[in-house]
Amino acid sequence: MCGITGFTGKQPALPFLLQGLSKLEYRGYDSAGVTLVNSRKLKTWKAKGRLSELEKLLSRNLTQSCGIGHTRWATHGVPSNMNAHPHMNEEETISVVHNGIVENYASLKEELLAQGYHFQSDTDSEVIVQLLDSYYRRKPVMKDALMRTVKRLEGSYALCVTSIYEPNTIYVAKQESPMVLGRSEEGTFCASDAPALLEYTREILPLQDGQFAILNKDSLEVFDAKGKTVIPQWIHFPYDVQAAQKNGYDSFMMKEIHEQPSVIRETLRGRFHGSRVVLPIIDQLDVDWTTIHQTIFIACGTAYHACVYADILYRRYTGGLSSVIPASEFRYSNPAVDEHTLCVFVSQSGETADTLAALKLAKARGCVTIAVVNVLGSSIARQTDAVLYTAAGPEIAVASTKAYTTQLVLLHVLVLKLAELLQHRVRGITRIIADLKRLPEITEQALETEPEVKKLAHMLKDKNDAYFIGRQLDYPTALEGALKLKEISYVHADAYYAGELKHGPIALIEQDTVVTAIATQPEVCGKTISNIKETVARGANVILITNPDTDAKEFKYVVRIPEVTPELAAIPSAVILQLFAYYGAKEKGCDIDKPRNLAKSVTVE
Ligand code: AGP
Repeated sequence: MCGITGFTGKQPALPFLLQGLSKLEYRGYDSAGVTLVNSRKLKTWKAKGRLSELEKLLSRNLTQSCGIGHTRWATHGVPSNMNAHPHMNEEETISVVHNGIVENYASLKEELLAQGYHFQSDTDSEVIVQLLDSYYRRKPVMKDALMRTVKRLEGSYALCVTSIYEPNTIYVAKQESPMVLGRSEEGTFCASDAPALLEYTREILPLQDGQFAILNKDSLEVFDAKGKTVIPQWIHFPYDVQAAQKNGYDSFMMKEIHEQPSVIRETLRGRFHGSRVVLPIIDQLDVDWTTIHQTIFIACGTAYHACVYADILYRRYTGGLSSVIPASEFRYSNPAVDEHTLCVFVSQSGETADTLAALKLAKARGCVTIAVVNVLGSSIARQTDAVLYTAAGPEIAVASTKAYTTQLVLLHVLVLKLAELLQHRVRGITRIIADLKRLPEITEQALETEPEVKKLAHMLKDKNDAYFIGRQLDYPTALEGALKLKEISYVHADAYYAGELKHGPIALIEQDTVVTAIATQPEVCGKTISNIKETVARGANVILITNPDTDAKEFKYVVRIPEVTPELAAIPSAVILQLFAYYGAKEKGCDIDKPRNLAKSVTVE
């Protein structure tokens, strides 16, 4: 997820480009760059780090009136000057910025290297400008060259092209990644998202998949995938910048809850070949898997809950020995680990001090280490033997939502791969992989429960305690549901194994106590239901989260997850509990995105 801006008009382009990128830093901020072009020259400036690092390179008297800009969230190639966008061809006559993932970049790069092209960066995006150059050389018509280039791209893109050949023109193409256009008396604009445009124009035009656009100083044309002119349907954008950055939602958390279908799709992209899991980075590990005797999942907070989920799956899929330990405990527990141990570290930020400390100990003991992180090139990513990246994009809200569900998804894929490497056949793998591929739609359906979940959250208005219970794969969901509610509503929420209630915690249940029970696992659903009845008998208000076919007529408050294989029920269940926590916090008038006492990344122990 990156931020793109482009302008061509009667004014210098730089002020628009930079203010637009600053409004889009929530889409990515590990490096940035701009290209400015006039009839004599095309020049590019790039810098690693925040936008302010780029601004230090730019003098304010750069008056070129056409340019493109980019703020990056690295997916291929660590954050660096060379990997920052824009990318130029070797003659520095064409410049491109790109947001998305070119899945087939490796084969395209090979083809271009064979033609004598050289590459500066490790990114997938650089193949776009070189491919464009190769087509432009054959027929110097940029529109044709761009149409031929994007036809070769597999994956997602929103891209802008500018060149010395047409110094007042910007070419735009869009497939899956967002791109909106704008116009005013001053010129024409493009950007990844509306916030970048709103100080210059309220007239915007979201490009549709497969469409192209050609922006000139006082004209803008839109074409469909066949190059046929499209009559633009301009709209007046009602939101202010703040609201637009949240895509119209009232908080980044709610925006990020609703991003989950798309970021789960991105995280799963390229991970399957038919019914087989494809994780080359794990296949390439120099490990004799017959010598791995145990696997330990290690993380903190929400990432720890994802590890609880992965630990249960690991034992179920591989029949092997596994455990899960909070990172803050691992290093002090004198763990019995060695070169026969695989340690899997999970972290959204990749910078959590406790997790880094645990990783250091694991490496000192000779363990094989794998990381599942969301930030490319982060400390944990750099220090493990192999790293898998979730594609959640920047998560701004302190309370983790989309990072969690993408961790669940990627850990699920990793455990399937480990089962294959440990030569253990996974029962029902075809059904599981089919539903993994359906997860974006399943998550979309889970979001449709929002109105009923919002009503149920009223129960929390005058409550200071709430309990979440579950068994087996429902237990990590209970843990995460309790943490979400605690974090943003400050309600004292606890999670228990459903079977553990009667061994003490049921003493806490009194009239109208709110108990959320998650019962999606067929083999223990009936048991959980009977545990719930024990709380109902003592006056609890029970919210049951369960499958479409569960007999729940005895329960007043039931939220049903979409039809899904039990091993993946944790994802839609988590979405429902995120909504529950969100509306619980709204009931309490709490600050949703910045809850008290919490930081987004805990870089101290
Ligand atoms: C989750 O909502 C919290 N923000 C927190 O528990 C977080 O998951 C934990 O600090 C771990 O952070 P990490 O994933 O960046 O390592």
